Amino acid sequence: MSAQQERTFIALKPDAVQRNLVGEVIRRFEAKGFKLVGLKLVKPSVETAEEHYAEHKGKGFYKGLVDFITSGPVVAMVWQGKGVVASARKLIGATNPLTSEPGTIRGDLAVDVGRNVIHGSDSTDSAQREISLWFKEGEIADWTPVSNAWVY
Ligand code: TYD
Ligand code: MG
Repeated sequence: MSAQQERTFIALKPDAVQRNLVGEVIRRFEAKGFKLVGLKLVKPSVETAEEHYAEHKGKGFYKGLVDFITSGPVVAMVWQGKGVVASARKLIGATNPLTSEPGTIRGDLAVDVGRNVIHGSDSTDSAQREISLWFKEGEIADWTPVSNAWVY
């Protein structure tokens, strides 16, 4: 992986799976020009969910959040590319879908903060932590397209 490149952790939450939005969201990341290097469907354990959302422990929405994220399968992904951490957050939009800009994933596809379709790492440090929480090393595979000259 070149120094320009970075990785982020993206999870399509149970509502995205139930609402058949998996393809729509993956399409947006592919269309942007990022590279999918990890992908699996998992029903997270309570332990994984609690560790993933550890920063929110003690907040009023924490238990509901953990209950929700463990309620059904999640599509866990690692996306790679230049500036992907911050760019993914822009593609995703603000936390509360009622204030997310139209054109963003949450702005276009969601209404309720507790059912906001997607998670994306908020920094490169969070991304590293989350990727190692959700993925084993052998589950991530970098690959080289024949040409990326039209993206970079
Ligand atoms: P947070 O990390 O603040 O948002 P983001 O997902 O944009 O990084 O919060 C984590 C999740 O917790 C958020 O996606 C939805 C849920 N949440 C609530 O249910 N209520 C709230 O008031 C907040 C702030 C978050
Ligand atoms: Mg967050």
